[in-house]
Amino acid sequence: MIEKIKALKTEIENITVSAKEEVEELRIKYISKKGQVSQLFEEFKNVSPEQKKEIGAAINDLKNFALDTINRIKESFETGDQSASGLDLTMPGEAIKLGTRHPLSIVKNEIIEIFARLGFVVAEGPEIEDDWHVFSALNFPPEHPARDMQDTFFIEKNPDILLRTHTSSVQVRVMEKTQPPIRAIFPGRVFRNEAISARSHCMFHQIEGLYVDENVSFADLKQTLLYFAREFFGEKTEIRMRPSYFPFTEPSAEVDVSCSICGGKGCNVCKYSGWLEILGCGMVDPNVLDLCGIDNKKYTGFAFGMGIERITMLKFGIKDIRHFFENDVRFLNQFEAAH
Ligand code: PHE
Repeated sequence: MIEKIKALKTEIENITVSAKEEVEELRIKYISKKGQVSQLFEEFKNVSPEQKKEIGAAINDLKNFALDTINRIKESFETGDQSASGLDLTMPGEAIKLGTRHPLSIVKNEIIEIFARLGFVVAEGPEIEDDWHVFSALNFPPEHPARDMQDTFFIEKNPDILLRTHTSSVQVRVMEKTQPPIRAIFPGRVFRNEAISARSHCMFHQIEGLYVDENVSFADLKQTLLYFAREFFGEKTEIRMRPSYFPFTEPSAEVDVSCSICGGKGCNVCKYSGWLEILGCGMVDPNVLDLCGIDNKKYTGFAFGMGIERITMLKFGIKDIRHFFENDVRFLNQFEAAH
Protein backbone atom coordinates (compact mmCIF):
# COMPACT_ATOMS: atom_id res chain seq x y z
CA MET A 1 0.00 0.00 0.00
CA ILE A 2 2.95 2.31 0.70
CA GLU A 3 3.90 1.88 -2.98
CA LYS A 4 0.45 2.96 -4.08
CA ILE A 5 0.61 6.08 -1.88
CA LYS A 6 4.03 6.97 -3.30
CA ALA A 7 2.84 6.53 -6.89
CA LEU A 8 -0.16 8.75 -6.28
CA LYS A 9 2.09 11.42 -4.74
CA THR A 10 4.35 11.44 -7.79
CA GLU A 11 1.30 11.69 -10.01
CA ILE A 12 0.02 14.73 -8.10
CA GLU A 13 3.47 16.31 -8.09
CA ASN A 14 3.58 16.20 -11.87
CA ILE A 15 0.18 17.69 -12.50
CA THR A 16 0.15 20.43 -15.13
CA VAL A 17 -2.97 22.43 -15.80
CA SER A 18 -3.63 24.64 -18.75
CA ALA A 19 -7.19 25.82 -18.04
CA LYS A 20 -9.00 26.90 -14.94
CA GLU A 21 -11.82 24.39 -15.52
CA GLU A 22 -9.40 21.50 -15.06
CA VAL A 23 -8.88 22.41 -11.39
CA GLU A 24 -12.36 21.21 -10.44
CA GLU A 25 -11.75 17.94 -12.33
CA LEU A 26 -8.61 17.46 -10.24
CA ARG A 27 -10.51 18.01 -7.02
CA ILE A 28 -13.06 15.38 -8.02
CA LYS A 29 -10.40 12.95 -9.18
CA TYR A 30 -8.28 13.07 -6.02
CA ILE A 31 -10.02 14.55 -2.97
CA SER A 32 -13.78 14.30 -3.38
CA LYS A 33 -15.59 11.55 -1.45
CA LYS A 34 -15.04 9.08 -4.29
CA GLY A 35 -11.60 10.51 -5.16
CA GLN A 36 -8.46 8.41 -5.24
CA VAL A 37 -7.07 9.77 -1.97
CA SER A 38 -10.39 9.24 -0.18
CA GLN A 39 -10.44 5.66 -1.49
CA LEU A 40 -7.21 5.01 0.38
CA PHE A 41 -8.99 5.68 3.66
CA GLU A 42 -11.43 2.88 2.73
CA GLU A 43 -8.58 0.46 2.08
CA PHE A 44 -6.95 1.57 5.35
CA LYS A 45 -9.62 -0.34 7.22
CA ASN A 46 -8.03 -3.63 6.09
CA VAL A 47 -4.47 -2.72 7.08
CA SER A 48 -2.96 -4.92 9.80
CA PRO A 49 -2.78 -3.27 13.27
CA GLU A 50 1.04 -3.12 13.32
CA GLN A 51 1.10 -1.18 9.98
CA LYS A 52 -1.72 1.18 10.85
CA LYS A 53 0.50 3.87 12.35
CA GLU A 54 2.90 4.15 9.41
CA ILE A 55 0.28 3.91 6.67
CA GLY A 56 -2.18 6.17 8.44
CA ALA A 57 0.42 8.93 8.65
CA ALA A 58 1.37 8.46 4.96
CA ILE A 59 -2.25 8.72 3.81
CA ASN A 60 -2.78 11.86 5.90
CA ASP A 61 0.37 13.40 4.40
CA LEU A 62 -0.80 12.56 0.93
CA LYS A 63 -4.21 14.07 1.57
CA ASN A 64 -2.66 17.34 2.79
CA PHE A 65 -0.26 17.35 -0.12
CA ALA A 66 -3.11 16.88 -2.60
CA LEU A 67 -5.18 19.61 -0.96
CA ASP A 68 -2.24 22.02 -0.95
CA THR A 69 -1.30 21.34 -4.53
CA ILE A 70 -4.80 21.74 -5.87
CA ASN A 71 -5.37 24.93 -3.86
CA ARG A 72 -2.10 26.33 -5.07
CA ILE A 73 -3.04 25.69 -8.69
CA LYS A 74 -6.47 27.21 -8.14
CA GLU A 75 -4.92 30.31 -6.62
CA SER A 76 -2.47 30.66 -9.44
CA PHE A 77 -5.35 30.96 -11.88
CA GLU A 78 -6.99 33.57 -9.68
CA THR A 79 -3.89 35.74 -9.26
CA GLY A 80 -2.50 35.16 -12.72
CA ASP A 81 0.73 33.78 -11.26
CA GLN A 82 1.38 30.65 -13.29
CA SER A 83 4.50 29.60 -11.41
CA ALA A 84 2.42 27.23 -9.29
CA SER A 85 1.29 25.33 -12.34
CA GLY A 86 4.86 24.48 -13.26
CA LEU A 87 5.43 27.43 -15.54
CA ASP A 88 8.00 29.92 -14.27
CA LEU A 89 7.61 33.13 -16.20
CA THR A 90 10.67 34.65 -14.53
CA MET A 91 12.99 32.09 -16.10
CA PRO A 92 15.36 33.57 -18.68
CA GLY A 93 14.04 33.07 -22.21
CA GLU A 94 15.75 30.98 -24.81
CA ALA A 95 17.66 33.38 -27.04
CA ILE A 96 16.91 33.07 -30.74
CA LYS A 97 20.31 32.70 -32.34
CA LEU A 98 20.76 34.90 -35.38
CA GLY A 99 22.63 33.55 -38.37
CA THR A 100 25.73 35.14 -39.80
CA ARG A 101 25.77 37.19 -42.95
CA HIS A 102 27.18 35.43 -46.00
CA PRO A 103 30.70 36.71 -46.80
CA LEU A 104 29.58 37.65 -50.33
CA SER A 105 26.80 39.80 -48.86
CA ILE A 106 29.22 41.45 -46.43
CA VAL A 107 31.53 42.44 -49.28
CA LYS A 108 28.67 43.41 -51.61
CA ASN A 109 27.22 45.72 -48.93
CA GLU A 110 30.61 47.28 -48.27
CA ILE A 111 31.09 48.03 -51.98
CA ILE A 112 27.58 49.51 -52.21
CA GLU A 113 28.36 51.75 -49.23
CA ILE A 114 31.61 53.00 -50.74
CA PHE A 115 29.96 53.93 -54.03
CA ALA A 116 26.94 55.40 -52.25
CA ARG A 117 29.33 57.98 -50.77
CA LEU A 118 30.12 59.05 -54.36
CA GLY A 119 26.43 59.36 -55.21
CA PHE A 120 25.90 55.99 -56.92
CA VAL A 121 22.48 54.39 -56.44
CA VAL A 122 21.72 50.65 -56.67
CA ALA A 123 19.72 49.09 -59.52
CA GLU A 124 19.03 45.47 -60.41
CA GLY A 125 18.00 43.51 -63.46
CA PRO A 126 16.81 39.98 -64.26
CA GLU A 127 19.11 36.93 -64.18
CA ILE A 128 17.22 35.37 -67.08
CA GLU A 129 17.83 37.73 -69.95
CA ASP A 130 17.58 38.03 -73.71
CA ASP A 131 20.29 38.30 -76.34
CA TRP A 132 19.65 42.03 -76.81
CA HIS A 133 20.45 43.07 -73.24
CA VAL A 134 23.41 40.72 -72.70
CA PHE A 135 25.06 40.98 -76.12
CA SER A 136 23.51 42.90 -79.02
CA ALA A 137 22.91 46.25 -77.31
CA LEU A 138 26.42 45.97 -75.86
CA ASN A 139 27.96 45.95 -79.30
CA PHE A 140 28.89 42.25 -79.38
CA PRO A 141 29.33 41.26 -83.02
CA PRO A 142 27.19 38.27 -84.04
CA GLU A 143 30.18 35.93 -84.20
CA HIS A 144 31.66 36.95 -80.82
CA PRO A 145 32.91 33.91 -78.86
CA ALA A 146 31.08 34.96 -75.65
CA ARG A 147 27.83 34.05 -77.40
CA ASP A 148 29.22 30.59 -77.93
CA MET A 149 27.42 27.65 -76.36
CA GLN A 150 30.58 27.00 -74.33
CA ASP A 151 30.23 30.18 -72.30
CA THR A 152 26.55 30.97 -72.19
CA PHE A 153 23.68 28.93 -70.80
CA PHE A 154 20.90 29.24 -73.37
CA ILE A 155 17.34 28.07 -72.94
CA GLU A 156 17.08 25.12 -75.33
CA LYS A 157 13.66 25.93 -76.74
CA ASN A 158 14.54 29.56 -77.42
CA PRO A 159 18.20 30.58 -77.86
CA ASP A 160 17.16 34.21 -77.57
CA ILE A 161 16.62 33.58 -73.84
CA LEU A 162 19.70 32.97 -71.72
CA LEU A 163 21.22 33.29 -68.26
CA ARG A 164 23.13 36.56 -68.16
CA THR A 165 26.90 36.12 -68.34
CA HIS A 166 27.61 39.54 -66.87
CA THR A 167 25.82 42.37 -65.08
CA SER A 168 26.53 44.70 -68.03
CA SER A 169 23.00 43.78 -69.18
CA VAL A 170 21.71 46.05 -66.40
CA GLN A 171 23.60 48.98 -67.98
CA VAL A 172 21.40 48.53 -71.04
CA ARG A 173 18.20 48.24 -69.00
CA VAL A 174 18.98 51.38 -67.03
CA MET A 175 20.07 53.46 -70.06
CA GLU A 176 16.95 52.42 -71.99
CA LYS A 177 14.76 53.69 -69.17
CA THR A 178 16.68 56.71 -67.86
CA GLN A 179 18.25 59.76 -69.44
CA PRO A 180 21.55 61.06 -67.95
CA PRO A 181 22.80 61.95 -65.46
CA ILE A 182 23.05 58.27 -64.52
CA ARG A 183 25.23 57.20 -61.62
CA ALA A 184 24.42 53.67 -60.52
CA ILE A 185 25.84 50.29 -59.50
CA PHE A 186 24.32 46.91 -60.24
CA PRO A 187 25.11 43.94 -58.02
CA GLY A 188 23.90 40.51 -59.10
CA ARG A 189 24.42 36.88 -59.94
CA VAL A 190 25.81 35.81 -63.30
CA PHE A 191 26.26 32.43 -65.01
CA ARG A 192 28.88 30.96 -67.30
CA ASN A 193 29.21 27.45 -68.62
CA GLU A 194 32.58 26.79 -67.02
CA ALA A 195 34.07 23.78 -65.29
CA ILE A 196 33.81 24.09 -61.52
CA SER A 197 37.17 24.24 -59.74
CA ALA A 198 38.80 26.00 -56.79
CA ARG A 199 39.15 29.12 -58.94
CA SER A 200 36.05 29.22 -61.13
CA HIS A 201 32.38 28.38 -60.86
CA CYS A 202 29.45 28.28 -63.27
CA MET A 203 27.66 30.87 -61.16
CA PHE A 204 29.17 33.86 -59.40
CA HIS A 205 28.45 37.50 -58.60
CA GLN A 206 29.47 40.76 -60.15
CA ILE A 207 29.01 44.39 -59.31
CA GLU A 208 28.80 46.77 -62.22
CA GLY A 209 29.12 50.55 -62.20
CA LEU A 210 27.86 53.08 -64.72
CA TYR A 211 28.27 56.85 -64.88
CA VAL A 212 26.84 58.76 -67.84
CA ASP A 213 26.68 62.54 -67.98
CA GLU A 214 28.08 65.51 -69.88
CA ASN A 215 31.89 65.65 -69.81
CA VAL A 216 32.56 62.36 -68.07
CA SER A 217 36.19 61.50 -68.81
CA PHE A 218 38.68 58.69 -68.36
CA ALA A 219 40.22 60.74 -65.52
CA ASP A 220 36.89 60.49 -63.67
CA LEU A 221 36.95 56.73 -64.13
CA LYS A 222 40.48 56.45 -62.82
CA GLN A 223 39.85 58.66 -59.80
CA THR A 224 36.62 56.82 -58.95
CA LEU A 225 38.38 53.46 -59.04
CA LEU A 226 41.34 54.74 -57.02
CA TYR A 227 38.95 56.04 -54.37
CA PHE A 228 37.18 52.70 -54.29
CA ALA A 229 40.44 50.71 -54.07
CA ARG A 230 41.73 52.78 -51.15
CA GLU A 231 38.43 52.64 -49.26
CA PHE A 232 38.17 48.89 -49.74
CA PHE A 233 41.77 47.63 -49.56
CA GLY A 234 43.34 50.38 -47.44
CA GLU A 235 44.68 53.90 -47.95
CA LYS A 236 48.13 52.84 -49.16
CA THR A 237 46.65 50.92 -52.09
CA GLU A 238 47.79 51.87 -55.60
CA ILE A 239 46.03 51.01 -58.85
CA ARG A 240 47.39 50.19 -62.28
CA MET A 241 45.44 50.27 -65.54
CA ARG A 242 46.34 47.99 -68.42
CA PRO A 243 44.85 48.38 -71.92
CA SER A 244 42.24 45.74 -72.65
CA TYR A 245 39.27 45.05 -74.87
CA PHE A 246 35.53 44.81 -74.30
CA PRO A 247 33.03 45.27 -77.13
CA PHE A 248 31.03 47.80 -75.13
CA THR A 249 33.81 50.13 -73.93
CA GLU A 250 36.39 52.15 -75.84
CA PRO A 251 39.04 52.56 -74.64
CA SER A 252 38.96 49.61 -72.26
CA ALA A 253 41.23 48.71 -69.37
CA GLU A 254 41.86 46.07 -66.79
CA VAL A 255 42.60 47.35 -63.31
CA ASP A 256 45.06 45.86 -60.84
CA VAL A 257 45.45 46.89 -57.20
CA SER A 258 48.71 46.64 -55.31
CA CYS A 259 48.64 43.33 -53.44
CA SER A 260 46.87 43.86 -50.12
CA ILE A 261 48.55 40.78 -48.65
CA CYS A 262 52.23 41.64 -49.18
CA GLY A 263 51.85 45.39 -49.83
CA GLY A 264 53.30 45.00 -53.32
CA LYS A 265 56.52 43.22 -52.33
CA GLY A 266 55.45 39.93 -53.91
CA CYS A 267 53.85 36.84 -52.37
CA ASN A 268 52.15 33.66 -53.51
CA VAL A 269 48.69 35.33 -53.64
CA CYS A 270 49.86 37.91 -56.23
CA LYS A 271 52.17 35.32 -57.80
CA TYR A 272 55.19 37.49 -56.88
CA SER A 273 54.02 40.31 -59.18
CA GLY A 274 52.88 42.70 -56.41
CA TRP A 275 49.59 43.28 -58.29
CA LEU A 276 46.12 41.73 -58.21
CA GLU A 277 43.66 42.04 -61.08
CA ILE A 278 40.24 43.07 -59.79
CA LEU A 279 38.11 44.54 -62.55
CA GLY A 280 37.43 45.46 -66.15
CA CYS A 281 36.38 48.95 -67.20
CA GLY A 282 36.33 51.59 -69.89
CA MET A 283 34.50 54.50 -71.50
CA VAL A 284 31.05 53.44 -72.67
CA ASP A 285 31.29 52.92 -76.45
CA PRO A 286 29.32 55.71 -78.23
CA ASN A 287 27.64 52.96 -80.22
CA VAL A 288 26.21 51.47 -77.00
CA LEU A 289 24.88 54.85 -75.89
CA ASP A 290 23.18 55.17 -79.25
CA LEU A 291 21.71 51.64 -79.15
CA CYS A 292 20.27 52.45 -75.70
CA GLY A 293 18.70 55.72 -76.82
CA ILE A 294 21.20 58.18 -75.35
CA ASP A 295 22.57 61.11 -77.35
CA ASN A 296 26.24 60.21 -77.83
CA LYS A 297 27.12 63.72 -79.05
CA LYS A 298 26.01 65.24 -75.78
CA TYR A 299 26.90 62.54 -73.28
CA THR A 300 29.86 60.33 -72.42
CA GLY A 301 30.19 57.72 -69.70
CA PHE A 302 32.32 55.14 -68.02
CA ALA A 303 31.53 51.61 -66.83
CA PHE A 304 33.30 49.00 -64.77
CA GLY A 305 32.57 45.48 -63.57
CA MET A 306 34.17 43.30 -60.92
CA GLY A 307 33.72 39.81 -59.57
CA ILE A 308 32.53 39.79 -55.96
CA GLU A 309 33.85 36.28 -55.23
CA ARG A 310 37.33 37.25 -56.26
CA ILE A 311 37.66 40.25 -53.99
CA THR A 312 35.92 38.41 -51.14
CA MET A 313 38.54 35.67 -51.46
CA LEU A 314 41.26 38.31 -51.31
CA LYS A 315 39.71 40.09 -48.35
CA PHE A 316 39.19 37.00 -46.20
CA GLY A 317 41.98 34.77 -47.53
CA ILE A 318 39.49 32.17 -48.87
CA LYS A 319 41.28 29.69 -51.10
CA ASP A 320 38.42 27.85 -52.81
CA ILE A 321 35.46 29.52 -54.57
CA ARG A 322 33.27 26.45 -53.99
CA HIS A 323 33.01 27.28 -50.26
CA PHE A 324 30.64 30.14 -51.12
CA PHE A 325 27.94 27.84 -52.44
CA GLU A 326 28.24 24.80 -50.20
CA ASN A 327 26.48 26.33 -47.19
CA ASP A 328 28.69 24.53 -44.69
CA VAL A 329 27.93 26.23 -41.36
CA ARG A 330 31.53 25.72 -40.21
CA PHE A 331 32.53 28.04 -43.05
CA LEU A 332 29.61 30.48 -42.76
CA ASN A 333 29.88 30.89 -38.97
CA GLN A 334 33.30 32.46 -39.31
CA PHE A 335 31.89 35.71 -40.63
CA GLU A 336 30.25 38.68 -38.93
CA ALA A 337 26.98 37.94 -37.14
CA ALA A 338 23.88 39.33 -38.82
CA HIS A 339 22.33 42.34 -37.09
N1 PHE B 1 31.26 42.75 -68.25
C1 PHE B 1 32.69 42.61 -68.16
C2 PHE B 1 33.01 41.16 -67.72
O1 PHE B 1 32.13 40.47 -67.29
C3 PHE B 1 33.31 43.57 -67.19
C4 PHE B 1 33.16 45.00 -67.61
C5 PHE B 1 32.11 45.75 -67.15
C6 PHE B 1 34.09 45.61 -68.46
C7 PHE B 1 31.98 47.10 -67.53
C8 PHE B 1 33.97 46.91 -68.83
C9 PHE B 1 32.91 47.65 -68.37
O2 PHE B 1 34.14 40.72 -67.82
